[in-house]
Amino acid sequence: MKASLSAAASEHDILGIISRHTDKPGAVLGILEEAQEKNPFKYLPPETLKLISEKTGTPLSRIYSIATFYSFFNLQPQGEHTILVCRGTACHTRGSRSLLEELSCLLGRPDFVESGEHSFTTADNKFTVKTVACFGQCALAPVVSVDGVIHSRVTSAGLKAILTRVGKGGKKS
Ligand code: FES
Repeated sequence: MKASLSAAASEHDILGIISRHTDKPGAVLGILEEAQEKNPFKYLPPETLKLISEKTGTPLSRIYSIATFYSFFNLQPQGEHTILVCRGTACHTRGSRSLLEELSCLLGRPDFVESGEHSFTTADNKFTVKTVACFGQCALAPVVSVDGVIHSRVTSAGLKAILTRVGKGGKKS
């Protein structure tokens, strides 16, 4: 698994992406977006950032500052499924913390909420869990997004059903 995780999009792929963006405004941003999309784990490994820096003549520090500024760029391998749990006030008052605690336990990270981290990926790379500040759907709290699909008024039972649907099957840690 480790070997495949380090396998970035191939140099050939990256060069192809760069050639399509040559002379376009905001080229580096577009190149990074495509390179991440091309990566099987939807992230930008160091070797990819270095290659983009070399081939575009953009300082590596600039590449990193772009990749860390925009929240949609990932510098760590992402899971097959992405679960976003809202930690905004409305969702918090309607139980998002306990949902997140339950989710973290189900996915083998019972310490996650207390850790202060904002995301984790399961060891099998099946799930990435992230917290978000607000989906702008506070009337539907608590809100959870799974692979881009918003689920509203999520309950503990609803959460387990969602996990089962996307393949976890409710395994306890
Ligand atoms: S606080 Fe959760 S959607 Fe706004």
